[in-house]
Amino acid sequence: MTADLVLMNMGLPTGRRADIVIAGGIVRHVGAAVRADDTIDCSRFTCLPGAVDMHVHMRGGVQAKKEDWRTGTVSAIAGGVTVVVDQPNTVPPITTPEILRARLREAEEHAVCGFAVNAGVTPDADLAGMWHAGSMAFGETFAAPSSYGGGLDPETLRVLLDRIHTLGGLATVHAEEVAGPAPATLAGHNRARSGAGEARAMRAISALAPERMRLHFCHASTAASIEAARGTVEVTPHHLFLSYTMFEEDDTRARVNPPLRDEETRRGLWSCWDAIDVIASDHAPHTFSEKALPFEAAPSGIPGVETMVPLLMAAVQRREISLTSVMEKTSWRPAAILGIPRAGFEPGDRADYALYPDEVTRIDASRLHAKCGWSPFEGLSAVFPEEVIVRGERAYACGDHLAAHPAWYPGQGYLSSQNK
Ligand code: DOR
Ligand code: ZN
Repeated sequence: MTADLVLMNMGLPTGRRADIVIAGGIVRHVGAAVRADDTIDCSRFTCLPGAVDMHVHMRGGVQAKKEDWRTGTVSAIAGGVTVVVDQPNTVPPITTPEILRARLREAEEHAVCGFAVNAGVTPDADLAGMWHAGSMAFGETFAAPSSYGGGLDPETLRVLLDRIHTLGGLATVHAEEVAGPAPATLAGHNRARSGAGEARAMRAISALAPERMRLHFCHASTAASIEAARGTVEVTPHHLFLSYTMFEEDDTRARVNPPLRDEETRRGLWSCWDAIDVIASDHAPHTFSEKALPFEAAPSGIPGVETMVPLLMAAVQRREISLTSVMEKTSWRPAAILGIPRAGFEPGDRADYALYPDEVTRIDASRLHAKCGWSPFEGLSAVFPEEVIVRGERAYACGDHLAAHPAWYPGQGYLSSQNK
């Protein structure tokens, strides 16, 4: 057998070192190397399965000034993310199979990593049509208004969750409570969309959803929310690594929904690390000029797909979290929740990897690849990958993006209609 690629001396999670033999985008054999077209010596790297970021807003279309499929996925790859799941609050929102197919064509043409697209959840959306056309999951479903998403009232939400359950789909939910007038500061934003309100919303939605439905809560920002959520729960790097007290009081770059919390709440979130199912970035870029608006008018959202795993790898180096917990929460759990083939170190696994050196650097927005050109994580410690492999091909090496043939990952609704 001739392999496409052999990853030599790869450190496995078991502590053993072995050669990973890859052909056709899949691990064929783990053990001694065979003849190969290409080899990479992994002895000086820590190797992670490619991350599946199940919450990104790739923008594009009329929002291409913020980001597009090319820049957003180049940014993903440079941060060790090999599959992104795009959210449907685009302009126009993804509410019909036709809009979904157009979105998939846009991604197919420009994406450089694996991708999937979720279906929008609004009262008039064709949920069944999008499910059979290949949407990955439903939502983020806005149970509270946010940038580019109107909030659904509880009764409408109940009806829509019921429909998603009948289809056998996964509902992903943005749960918050919003109170009071438009805030002018980060502290005011934190009060208007409080942590307590978020936990209440998660508890209420957990109660109104059909009993056995597949539920996933997006971006829980407090320990109490993690406890309140039923199903699986996701946390973002910005809620783990940033608090609003780290910024000037009206710094719009740190304006995001749910808001950044105070230091004590941020530390409380870390204390729940083991209970977190998924780390996802909620990559939601806006341009400099949009963020230059007065606080009340500036859009919420921050970029983060490229810095997510690098920030976590710096925490691994500081021995704050284990390497396997990072693999679980950034790759294996999201893949299992969504039904995407697992990337890993066993025969049959998808051959997506990122290779990290030991060197810790500081985040410098001017070196990142997202179109917006800024990052709220500026100056924080991070470990960026040197090499990234997508489906057995080198997609990124020492700062250069190389050719890649990324795949579309359709949801279960499409897969089961193909198998009939
Ligand atoms: O801050 C946010 N921005 N939260 C969301 O839920 C949406 C996102 C966006 O699309 O800009
Ligand atoms: Zn959201």
